[in-house]
Amino acid sequence: MSASNRIVVLAAPIDGVPRADNFRIVERPVPEPGEREFLVRHVYLSLDPYQRSAIGGMHLTSDAALAIDAMPAAETIGRVIASHHPDFKAGDYVRHFGGWQEYSLSDGIGTVRVDPQRAPLSTYLGILGMPGLTAWASMIKLAEVQPGQSVLVSAASGPVGSMVGQIARQRGARAFGIAGSAEKCAFVVDELGFERCINYHDADVPAELARLAPDGFDIYHDNVGGQMLTDALRALRLYGTAILCGLISQYNDTEKGRGFDLAPAIIRRAVMKGLVVYDYEDFRQEFIDLVAPWLSEGKITYREDRVSGIVNTGAHFARLMSGQNFGKALVALED
Ligand SMILES: NC(=O)c1ccc[n+]([C@@H]2O[C@H](COP(=O)([O-])OP(=O)(O)OC[C@H]3O[C@@H](n4cnc5c(N)ncnc54)[C@H](OP(=O)(O)O)[C@@H]3O)[C@@H](O)[C@H]2O)c1
Repeated sequence: MSASNRIVVLAAPIDGVPRADNFRIVERPVPEPGEREFLVRHVYLSLDPYQRSAIGGMHLTSDAALAIDAMPAAETIGRVIASHHPDFKAGDYVRHFGGWQEYSLSDGIGTVRVDPQRAPLSTYLGILGMPGLTAWASMIKLAEVQPGQSVLVSAASGPVGSMVGQIARQRGARAFGIAGSAEKCAFVVDELGFERCINYHDADVPAELARLAPDGFDIYHDNVGGQMLTDALRALRLYGTAILCGLISQYNDTEKGRGFDLAPAIIRRAVMKGLVVYDYEDFRQEFIDLVAPWLSEGKITYREDRVSGIVNTGAHFARLMSGQNFGKALVALED
């Protein structure tokens, strides 16, 4: 065990897109587990777009911005290395909110064991983790996707978007994506099996959407907000369903609530449902039991955008929040 725990903290307020120098590393002694506590060595740290809103005090869990010198929250996968807890023993692998650091203590509340034999550990933060559960809730619970339907999703190469399309396909629907580069679109079509993908940097998006689905898409899962949401709503069929999941095009905005045109939702008589993944925590095992076999049978796939070492966390987060990641953003902390 190394003598110290390296922790990433906020060094300066973030103005717009995060930069690596918004963060700095501090070192603290590795904490000792007390009674009914255990110590976890993090193996993977999850970087997710909601962390940008949380740092800025614009997340649904809190209106308070992260204080300078405080550590951002994050889900982690780790190995228990010392335990005084009856239900967790050294060697167990666990998922919990360990934060942007190398070690954390847990009293077991909110910590669940994960099985490294069933799937690669990192997938419990991605395809089998919160992003996968989000996609499952969208397609199965909210949109109730049916065979033959057409499903459009933005940020289609990311962990949520890629799973939205793949779950839709497993249910017999056709998936269409919007993504930010030709390389991402090639992955979405060639490896994930989507019918088509529009590179929005290089296309007339409304015209392409109208061409792909002249009668309109049955379902739109929105990860982005802003103009892309308006364009996609316009491309929905009458009485189509829009799942409002993310607003990543607005997370770096310094002011809350910039408006956009919702008129197409009225014109399309759209059914719009907001999705908060926390509402589906009780379904996590059901979701994993459905999706893990698809993964081991090769029916679905995933892509990760990894960096190694806690010192690279801030820069990797900046990469995610400027749209440069290609796949689930992760920091690997232990070989
Ligand atoms: N409602 C919920 O409970 C819930 C749960 C999980 C996730 N989410 C949301 O779902 C969305 C996707 O999350 P994820 O974890 O799968 O992450 P992700 O897709 O890896 O998010 C990063 C991607 O978003 C796109 N992006 C970034 N900035 C953008 C901008 N200004 N305009 C348009 N696109 C931009 C980029 O892809 P392109 O290059 O393809 O544009 C980038 O690679 C996020 O909005 C997230 O907050 C919501």
